[in-house]
Amino acid sequence: MKSSFTPIPPLLLGPGPSPVHESVLSAISQPTIGHLDKQCFALMNEIKQMLQQLFQTQNALTIPLSGPGSAGMEACIANLIEPGEKVVVCINGAFGQRLADSARKVGGHVIEVNADWGCAISPNALRQALQPHTDTQSVCFVHGETSTGVLNDAQALCAVAHEFGALTIVDAVTSLGGVEVKVDEWGIDAIFSGSQKCLSCPPGLSPISFNTRAINKLTQRKSPIPSWFLDLSMISNYWNESSRVYHHTAPVNALYGLHQGLSNALNEGSNALMMRHLECNDILVSGLEALGLTCLVDKAHRLPQLTTIQIPDDTDDKAFRDILMDEYHIEIGGGIGALAGKVWRVGLMGNGARVDNVTRLLDAMSHARQHALRPTAKQPG
Ligand SMILES: Cc1ncc(COP(=O)(O)O)c(C=O)c1O
Repeated sequence: MKSSFTPIPPLLLGPGPSPVHESVLSAISQPTIGHLDKQCFALMNEIKQMLQQLFQTQNALTIPLSGPGSAGMEACIANLIEPGEKVVVCINGAFGQRLADSARKVGGHVIEVNADWGCAISPNALRQALQPHTDTQSVCFVHGETSTGVLNDAQALCAVAHEFGALTIVDAVTSLGGVEVKVDEWGIDAIFSGSQKCLSCPPGLSPISFNTRAINKLTQRKSPIPSWFLDLSMISNYWNESSRVYHHTAPVNALYGLHQGLSNALNEGSNALMMRHLECNDILVSGLEALGLTCLVDKAHRLPQLTTIQIPDDTDDKAFRDILMDEYHIEIGGGIGALAGKVWRVGLMGNGARVDNVTRLLDAMSHARQHALRPTAKQPG
């Protein structure tokens, strides 16, 4: 007889997923209904409206895609970029690199704007990259870079892209729900996010929003969309109240969870939510300084919900994180890409952004700091 799988839940303070709110877990456990049931359509309509509120947009095409944040990325890239088109991609971390890889895979001619990992993309650098390439069709960038903890200035980058008439494609996987994301005001043409960061839902859904410019680009394509599952011209028919054509079996229980996660965020209120993330980040940074630890990113460009901490030379990265996990049941992240082995990543996202979690983490880090010293750093005797 096989037994059920019962995880011992650690406190998730890494780069995602974040701790899922109890109310979301109980929403998900409700009985499944059919994806073509009228009740499901009502659920979908409410999710669309709540996503519009959170994204601060009137865009009709604002829906959650079935799949993780990477599905949202591929949907934006595959639907909006055609082979041979010039695409400027801003890269200051691993997720910017992914955007560039993804654009190349659909045949885009990628022009990179690079900044050091830990620094923000300068709007001027973007302008200089665009000047010799005025026929650029799209500009892609990551709003909150989870690999480095940098918040790029989405408003300024969109303004530069629009000086050149380019479409803007923005990764808001980590930023949405933790910092302001003003899709209409900032002129973001296409945006994607994820359910498992500041929305505190399980991974597996990717909210996206396309404005009229992006939809026009999609409908006027010369080449076919190089994906069946992520073809937005078909998916949008399922999410459109007047057409409702079956596309795929929507993950209904995951949608219950997203509905609850969005309700929680909107009931708390956008301002209160942002302030809670800021407050937790302030307490964390002061505590880290008291422990003699240094943040990678300057205060001006720090993403409140994701903090990168430089690993001191005397400390063993893996031993430190193992102590947190094994003795304190706290998960934090290690560095990835160019920052592998160089930083720890602490996520205080959504339901994880609580003062008591920060205190618990700082206590655990203080202990781990003393017990994860490299052999050479230990005091003799
Ligand atoms: C900024 C950013 N973009 C994209 C992704 C990819 O999302 P997912 O892992 O849900 O596919 C992540 C995941 O951590 C992310 O942080």
